[in-house]
Formats: sequence, structure tokens, C-alpha cells
Amino acid sequence: MADEKQPDQMCRHIAVIMDGNGRWAKQRGKIRSFGHKEGLKATKRLLHYASERGLKYLTLYAFSTENWKRAEEEVSYLMNLIHLHLRKEMKFYKKNHIRLRFIGDLSRLKPSLQEEMRSVERDTASYDGLTVQLAINYGGRDELRRAVQKLIDSGKQEITEADIEAELDTAGIPDPDLIIRTAGEQRLSNFLMWQSAYSEFWYTPKLWPDFGSEDFDEAVAAFFRRDRRYGGIK
Ligand code: IPE
Ligand code: IPE
Ligand code: MG
Repeated sequence: MADEKQPDQMCRHIAVIMDGNGRWAKQRGKIRSFGHKEGLKATKRLLHYASERGLKYLTLYAFSTENWKRAEEEVSYLMNLIHLHLRKEMKFYKKNHIRLRFIGDLSRLKPSLQEEMRSVERDTASYDGLTVQLAINYGGRDELRRAVQKLIDSGKQEITEADIEAELDTAGIPDPDLIIRTAGEQRLSNFLMWQSAYSEFWYTPKLWPDFGSEDFDEAVAAFFRRDRRYGGIK
């Protein structure tokens, strides 16, 4: 996107905290799961639109390390929804040249889901369009903890920022330029804590199932009006 610009002015990576599915359902007198089903439709619309617009990286917060606190019924509905989507939608990813990778501690997920994730990662690894990172059982603190543990295990005595970055789930992916959160909440909720150091933030009161291409465009337009200084002076 905006290839004529300098790398530090480009919008290559957008990360989204897809929030408000439960409230969307509640407003309609339905159970929360109904909101998740509708939220997935908004996610698919976004994938399509973002890849059409030529975005390089999109990270989506689908399930946090704290979301296990929810009722077992809601958690298993979400996990099944993700599982089914991965099983059914390979054609969609193939057609749009979308590469999928997963971030988060996947070891706590059902083995059959883990297997599906590995197979999707394998099958889409060569696609050079949009790269999508799906954050599942992801927490920024947990990601950092796991990275530090790996560094300790490697026996390193002195570590650089690059050493930490290389052990994060997002290794090799540039930091998000823009973080979008829906549903009026203005917090990070343990998302990409390390990577968001210099991200721009954009919030909307819209609930996730209502999020559309016009909102994406508005967020990107707002991003291009920002002045990113990275602590320097311009
Ligand atoms: C976001 O919607 C989706 C997930 C956390 C999986 P919520 O389920 O948090 O919806 P609200 O915030 O309760 O409305
Ligand atoms: C953040 O939303 C996590 C996801 C969107 C997956 P939450 O709804 O879990 O966040 P809080 O609890 O409002 O901070
Ligand atoms: Mg929420």
C-alpha cells in the first residue's frame, strides 16, 4: 500500500482487535455465539478487501490467553468455528494467494486443531499475496515469557532486542504500522505488546460484525494523516 512512500511512512502491516461480537448478538436478543458466527463473516470480508488493496500483513486477534475465562460453551464454539473455517476455506486462501500463519501458544489447543493449523500453514506457505497472522491463545506477555525461556534454554548470557525479536511468534514479520480496535474499547488487552511500541492506534465504536470496507478505508486514511516521529524530531 502506497509504495511510492518511504518504508517508515508505508502501511504494510495492520493488526486488528476484533471486538464486540457478544454485544452485537445481545443487541439482537441472541446468544453470544451468534455474534461470533457473524463476526467471522466480517473477518472474511476484511481478508478479501485487504488483499485486494495490496496490504502485505494483517494480524487478527481471534482468541486471547485470557479468553479461556469465558463459559466452556462459548470457548468450544469459537474453537470449532475456527477449525471448521480452516477446513472449509482453503480454496478461498488459494484463490486470493493468502498465506496463513498462527501466533500464540498453540500447544493448549486440541491436537486435531493443531494438526489442521500446521497443514494450512504448510499449504499456504508459498503464497506471496497478503500474509495473515491469526492470533489464537495469544497473549503478549505469554509470548514474551516463552521467548525469554527459549533464550535462557539456549544459554545466552547477554541478549539484544534482535535476540528477543527472533524468538517471538511474529519473528520475521515487520511490526504493525496500525492497530485497529472495534467496539469502542481503547485498550490493548495483551495484544502485540512488544511489537506495538510505535504503532498508530485507531478506534471505532462499531461492533466487529458491522465492520466493513468503508471502516478499513477510514482507518487507513487516518493513518496517512499521522506524523510518525519515532522519538525524533521532524
Ligand atoms: C470479540 O468479541 C471476539 C473474541 C474475543 C473472540 P467479544 O466476544 O469480546 O464481544 P464483546 O466484547 O463481549 O461484545
Ligand atoms: C480482546 O477482546 C481479545 C480478542 C479480540 C480476541 P476481549 O473482549 O477479550 O478484551 P477485554 O476483555 O474487553 O479487554
Ligand atoms: Mg470483547
